[in-house]
Amino acid sequence: MSSDLTAPAASRVSAPVSTRLGEPLPDGLLDAAERLSREELREHQLGLLQATLRHAYDNVELYRRKFDEAGVKPDDCRTLEDLARFPFTTKADLRDTYPFGMFAVPMDQVRRIHASSGTTGRPTVVGYTENDISMWADVVARSIRAAGGRPGHKIHVSYGYGLFTGGLGAHYGAERAGCTVIPASGGMTARQVQIIQDFKPEIIMVTPSYMLTLLDEFERQGVDPRTSSLKVGIFGAEPWTEEMRREIEERMDIHAVDIYGLSEVIGPGVAQECVETKDGLHVWEDHFYPEVVDPISDEVLPDGDSGELTFTSLTKEALPIIRYRTRDLTRLLPGTARPAFRRIEKITGRCDDMIILRGVNVFPSQIEEILLRTPAVAPHFTIQLSRRGRMDHMTVRAEARPGATPEQRDAAAAAIGKGVKDGVGVTVAVEIVDPETLERSVGKIRRVKDLREQ
Ligand code: DLL
Repeated sequence: MSSDLTAPAASRVSAPVSTRLGEPLPDGLLDAAERLSREELREHQLGLLQATLRHAYDNVELYRRKFDEAGVKPDDCRTLEDLARFPFTTKADLRDTYPFGMFAVPMDQVRRIHASSGTTGRPTVVGYTENDISMWADVVARSIRAAGGRPGHKIHVSYGYGLFTGGLGAHYGAERAGCTVIPASGGMTARQVQIIQDFKPEIIMVTPSYMLTLLDEFERQGVDPRTSSLKVGIFGAEPWTEEMRREIEERMDIHAVDIYGLSEVIGPGVAQECVETKDGLHVWEDHFYPEVVDPISDEVLPDGDSGELTFTSLTKEALPIIRYRTRDLTRLLPGTARPAFRRIEKITGRCDDMIILRGVNVFPSQIEEILLRTPAVAPHFTIQLSRRGRMDHMTVRAEARPGATPEQRDAAAAAIGKGVKDGVGVTVAVEIVDPETLERSVGKIRRVKDLREQ
């Protein structure tokens, strides 16, 4: 079922290192799928979709049972829109079949296993055949090229290596793109800064929250981050806002672009923002078919409407995934820099990290936006939820910037409280804490602490 459309046109070409990042990718570096028209792509998708539904039905008991219960057979899918008749898959399905119950190939064809820890219960386990690993390297390589990476660039990978898909996913993609990988993984922050200073990578791949930790460390070591060799940061694995993009771009003098993915679908490289437009992430639709559904009614929504993103894999062998509910909220938009591929708007929230405070929906990203507009505070913050009597309370703790005076801190607290009240519609307590007192991210950050059930 593997598709040769992703065979990177430039894999054997040793192009000179581009110093003009931010320029559109030259045609010679686009792969065959990136040059398809939308109609050609849709035709290609339909054949792959039919084969995937058949593969899932024939080889995974859970899919067979769910399709039978819904009264659909793989042959009922005659158009891409027919996918809406098929049942959804959720994280619970993967947990219920833990560890390998949803694998569709014999174990001796599984070359790699990853797992995501999640916040509760059993981890979600995913498997890859050799072709799956190769396809994954292709889509990450394509993502790196879209971000401005070129053969010959050095890429510092600070996503964690291990069961998490971030490190190894980025690593294989960087190699496939013809780059030199520096497999730093997460942690040992002071050493990471030293390595960046000494090895002079052009690109860094890291969570945006850990990038902030690294930026602080540059400054702690007395090095102006703007003087580093880095030109592009490829940030993902957690939500981050346009305000955070501006903060990082200004402090580091780099292009900050967004990479999206999830282990159940493949890992990083499901969608990527192009550096020349920075206008949302192109979904690599030749491998991952997106739908946006209403999280309550489960209806498929038209492009342009916001809802929950779902994915169906089109070329995966070990773990075909059908209509997987990501819990991520976004909308589908037409392609721009890669016209055949639709974009998703930057994901700023998940159905399940939405806080419902006294009936108002609050996302941590809304708080981030407000904090980043407040000069006396650093972009490090936590949110604590507690209950007093029958009332829910939310406390935002933000760190003061070094040197902020008591008056500036008081003014910042008042401005943040007012910003949240006016912008989000809830009253929250704001505490400005001393610099360097909140826990720092070394990977994905957990901002919300919910003490309400304790
Ligand atoms: O986080 C894969 C990844 C690694 C993506 C490195 C990008 C870079 P999981 O651990 O399975 O996989 O977590 C997937 O993380 O459903 C989103 O909620 C969130 N997420 C991932 N990328 C983004 C992003 C990896 N760019 C979950 N923006 C997803 C917002 C993101 N949220």
